[in-house]
Amino acid sequence: MHKIDFNDRWVFIKEGKESYIEKEIPDGEYITLPHCFNGIDGQSGDGMYKGKTCYQKKVALTGEELREYHYLEIGAASLVSHVYINGILAGSSRCGFSMYRVFLNPLLKEGENLISIVVDNSRFDDVYPLMADFSFYGGLYREVSWITTRALHFELLDNSRDGMYITQKAIKNGIYELKIKGSVINELHNKLESKIKVTLLDKEGNGVLSKTMKCAVIEKEEFEFIEELNQPRLWQGIEDPYLYTLKVELYQEEQLVDERNLEIGFRTIEITPDKGVFLNGKPIKLNGVSRHQDFAEVGNALTKEHMELDMSLIKEIGANSIRLSHYQHHDYFYTLCDRAGLLVWAEIPFISVPSTADKENQNAKDQLERLIKQAYNHCSIYCWGIQNEITIAIENEQIYEMVKELAAIARNLDAVRYIAQANIHSVANESSLNDLTDFVGYNLYYGWYYKEMKDLAVRLDEFHKVRPNIPVMVTEYGVDTNPVLHSYTPSVKDYTEEYQLLFQENALKTFKEREYVLGGYVWALFDFGSEIRNEGGTKGKNQKGLVTIDRKIKKDTFYLCKAYWSKEKFVKLAGSRFVNRHQEENDMVVLSNVNSVKLFVGEKMIGERNDHEPVKIFKGVKLAHGENFIRVEAVDSEGNCYYDEMFLNRVKDMDLSYVLKKTEEKTTVTNWFQKFDLTNVQEVAIKEGYYSTFDTIEELYKNEEAKAVFKKYFGDLAENPQMATMRGLMTIDSMSKRSRFNIPKELLSVINKELNVIEKRK
Ligand code: GCU
Repeated sequence: MHKIDFNDRWVFIKEGKESYIEKEIPDGEYITLPHCFNGIDGQSGDGMYKGKTCYQKKVALTGEELREYHYLEIGAASLVSHVYINGILAGSSRCGFSMYRVFLNPLLKEGENLISIVVDNSRFDDVYPLMADFSFYGGLYREVSWITTRALHFELLDNSRDGMYITQKAIKNGIYELKIKGSVINELHNKLESKIKVTLLDKEGNGVLSKTMKCAVIEKEEFEFIEELNQPRLWQGIEDPYLYTLKVELYQEEQLVDERNLEIGFRTIEITPDKGVFLNGKPIKLNGVSRHQDFAEVGNALTKEHMELDMSLIKEIGANSIRLSHYQHHDYFYTLCDRAGLLVWAEIPFISVPSTADKENQNAKDQLERLIKQAYNHCSIYCWGIQNEITIAIENEQIYEMVKELAAIARNLDAVRYIAQANIHSVANESSLNDLTDFVGYNLYYGWYYKEMKDLAVRLDEFHKVRPNIPVMVTEYGVDTNPVLHSYTPSVKDYTEEYQLLFQENALKTFKEREYVLGGYVWALFDFGSEIRNEGGTKGKNQKGLVTIDRKIKKDTFYLCKAYWSKEKFVKLAGSRFVNRHQEENDMVVLSNVNSVKLFVGEKMIGERNDHEPVKIFKGVKLAHGENFIRVEAVDSEGNCYYDEMFLNRVKDMDLSYVLKKTEEKTTVTNWFQKFDLTNVQEVAIKEGYYSTFDTIEELYKNEEAKAVFKKYFGDLAENPQMATMRGLMTIDSMSKRSRFNIPKELLSVINKELNVIEKRK
């Protein structure tokens, strides 16, 4: 297989005329892939383009070249795409985060060929994600490659990436089994003799194992190697992510015709309900971050440099695990994780609400199949996440069935890895949803969307008590934070850096104190585009990141995590952006993984600490009027020094730019039900044939009277774009189970009294 970049000089147009399928775009724009057409508007919060677009490129081929076999590999195109060669459909994909390939030969001709790729990011009722808190960017946003093969080659069209699957597992005392299973294709469909050779090389390039197998191929032939390896050097996570290279060569009569070089790590992962996670038998708390793939201004059209920058930040913070949410990420990013030693939670966008248009849930199944087949060979992946908060609107048997089916598909494709899910907090501990995967994650926002920070620990302990046999972790926790906002008295929904710091510290302590908690994934490492958002002084972004979307500002909480997780010594003064201080006495917060720390104001040392605490607070430090130079000095046990410094300005009056202007706020539903009288409410026995709180909003809306009742209590709620997608699923009853709607139980009876007298017409 010969693979070349096919990224330059595409012609792009942000419209999808039928004629572009076969005719050249007259006045398109020249672009280079990867390309996203929502790089700017997908993060502006002012509405983004959603619809058809077209990418075109010409390629000239000689008669001789046509005797070879040609494939186009599309890294990813969002959300739905169709490839036309000289006006004829050659292939398509409804899995906008996965790679796909198209066999070109039947449609190619000698001379010039026109390739048109129609890419559409409109809403499709049967394509995930249907609804989620991130922008559904459109584009041919990963690289495109042109692949040329000989007649004999490894499989290219089974939705896998490598045409083979490598499985490693420990079998006994330091002995590992290495299984390589794949297929060889013969394009000529006549019998060809081939030979497959596998060689395992260590980092220095020494052969550790070598095996050869003969294989006669007519059309397609499967092959399998099962070898044993004694005491391989293990892949030890971030401590020592040791990788071997597996070279798999395909020969036709002694001539090398195809080849794969795949990195592989040997490791065991065990997840227990009471003692947490074990990597190669050693306990490891998952100090995790979550990542969406987008970046300021380019959307999801990432280059290797973007991904390497992200990885350098992940390494800096000291995370040992990552949740790559909420869809399949770039293959290179999984490779970076293999090399960095991160344990990866990989997942599909079966998120928020299931499709009602696709009863078979085919799109979720397809995306799962592609994710697993394409990412299978990455040793960093320890689990497949099959759903995220899929019960936002409603939790019922049908959803359980869908999750069950996905778990079965994952198990069938990968017998070794764990299968997991991320539940919304409203899923009861006892819910049978929790029984459908090997372990469970909960997205818990105690102290942000609901209740208080301390309730995180309460909830986890309750879960563990009720479900002692289900391993549990926190798959999301976080608060929106705008680094220009500050407060002496941080509180929920103030969006300050100081509140994020408190929230994060509470969570990290909670995980640390509980052996049974597998760990947590902070939501999120980076701010990300979310077209539906307008809060915390910013539009179009979710600001729960520890780093801004342009990766330029590391919020204080980044250093808090670093102090907890990283071995790279450092010291950092929190609050350096909270420059103008109107109080004389200020608590100085020092974040460090070095024990011995001294704090200075000007030349004067005003305090000293020597302890293991990652957060060291120097209380009531007095500031003089005007500029104050604050310096912190840390000295480790070997005598190495670390410094940080900042200027603080003591001012007379409070700097109001640090406080969120309240006008735009409170997007979430508040307690408007207070205006209804809920005293002495009698329960209503629901009559069949009449409307009730158990009907979907869509059904209520079909009847003018029922709709009026709904609107009386909920106003235009059902008409906002987010709710609109849930109307076919959500009932008033299911809404009442979501704390964000704040619906008192008594209100259901009040509403039923009015609804249950409106007869349903046949
Ligand atoms: C959800 C969801 C995320 C979302 C987050 C948030 O739980 O899984 O996709 O961004 O919460 O509200 O910030």
